[in-house]
Amino acid sequence: MKNNSYTVAVLGAGNIGSAVISRLLHLDNEVININLSKVLVSDSTKDRDFDSNLITEDFNEIANDENIDLVIEVLGGVEPGKEYIKELLQKGKSVITANKDIIADCGEELIKTAQENNACLYFEAAVAAGIPVLKPLIESLRGEELSRVAGIINGTSNYILTAMEEGSTYGDALQNAQELGYAEPDPTNDVEGIDAKYKAMILSLLCFGVSPSTDDVYTEGISKITKEDFDWAKRLNKTIKLVAQIDNSQEGFNARVYPVLVDSKHPLAAIRGALNAVLVEGENINQLVFSGPGAGAAPTASAIIGDVLSACHQMASNQTNWYPLRTPKTGDKAIKDVDSSWFIRLSVKDEPGVLAAIASLFGKNNVSIESVIQEGRGDNAELVLVTHEASEHNLTSSIDSIANLDSVSSVTSTIRVYL
Ligand SMILES: NC(=O)c1ccc[n+]([C@@H]2O[C@H](COP(=O)([O-])OP(=O)(O)OC[C@H]3O[C@@H](n4cnc5c(N)ncnc54)[C@H](OP(=O)(O)O)[C@@H]3O)[C@@H](O)[C@H]2O)c1
Repeated sequence: MKNNSYTVAVLGAGNIGSAVISRLLHLDNEVININLSKVLVSDSTKDRDFDSNLITEDFNEIANDENIDLVIEVLGGVEPGKEYIKELLQKGKSVITANKDIIADCGEELIKTAQENNACLYFEAAVAAGIPVLKPLIESLRGEELSRVAGIINGTSNYILTAMEEGSTYGDALQNAQELGYAEPDPTNDVEGIDAKYKAMILSLLCFGVSPSTDDVYTEGISKITKEDFDWAKRLNKTIKLVAQIDNSQEGFNARVYPVLVDSKHPLAAIRGALNAVLVEGENINQLVFSGPGAGAAPTASAIIGDVLSACHQMASNQTNWYPLRTPKTGDKAIKDVDSSWFIRLSVKDEPGVLAAIASLFGKNNVSIESVIQEGRGDNAELVLVTHEASEHNLTSSIDSIANLDSVSSVTSTIRVYL
């Protein structure tokens, strides 16, 4: 770094890397001068739309180049990116990454490595890509004790759920998302909530100082949601969203990801298609909602360029990483102790005493019923119940017993209600 000039390298020139490289080459900043010196790729023979002299296949050329101040990691996957980031930070180089898998896996360790080596580590693009949400959470809200962070942070599943709200089946919506490039050929990570779980782990660390393991974050995806669930949601003036929810109260900390029925007037209900949103609650701020594009090359590159400029300012003032990890205030609360309200659909035989038997089993588990609707007659009657708040443990015990009743043919669906 000399007179506000910084030398930068990029690891990866794929979908995101090429958008970042294009932005770096055309960056017009009057204060900071950025020189792109090297780009790491796995195949240097591929055609690229930037100067081929920048390309290398040898990471050591970047790691050992003392002129390089800052490295942007956009390789994808966990390895070799994780080891590369560690080595670069240990050498005192600042790192920007868009890689949620690496930050969820060892973000706390990497932040400490950055701090110990007087380097910066930034990862705004790893959560909700184009929405600047980590910096406001960490900087602007540094003085706030947050009670909840909840988000629609997987654009693929939100795209599918929005299409289902508009009448598609799950299968058709998924196929359409794949044809449009919103969903991978293997959509498991997106539709089973795994991608949202990793982002929830990053938010847990930054907002509450808690670094949960993957097993600590209870996760359910959207693949069991049906068109009929949406029909019922509509009748109840609600919609269905995949929400990552992190609560921190006197009773404890819990992070989880699952589909929920959301009231149609709630801000999260308005987040449609591939958009993302992060909602934050705290005593002084009441409720804030950040929303926008949570994926795509241009929005992701925008977040990365913002991080590059922040890191350069930081290096100019010889400061280290600005992530002030919070100290956890409370212990963990297991999912079984979390209070939920459930929407339950049962296929029942329409005969005297069915409802009384079901109500009695809920009562034995201290679960009270908010509303009941019965439709149909004979052996194909449908019973739709919404419970009041009860612990997950009591709700699952009730459902297990109800499923065993002779008069209950099947528990068609159970979906939590967003509280
Ligand atoms: N897509 C989004 O909207 C989005 C949003 C937020 C964050 N992200 C994150 O951004 C990152 C990059 O994603 P992407 O879609 O740009 O990936 P991508 O298109 O697959 O590009 C990966 C790039 O890394 C290079 N590469 C991979 N492994 C390498 C290795 N071992 N050594 C050297 N080079 C290697 C590839 O080289 P070749 O070109 O030679 O194959 C390619 O240029 C991921 O962590 C992703 O999660 C993506």
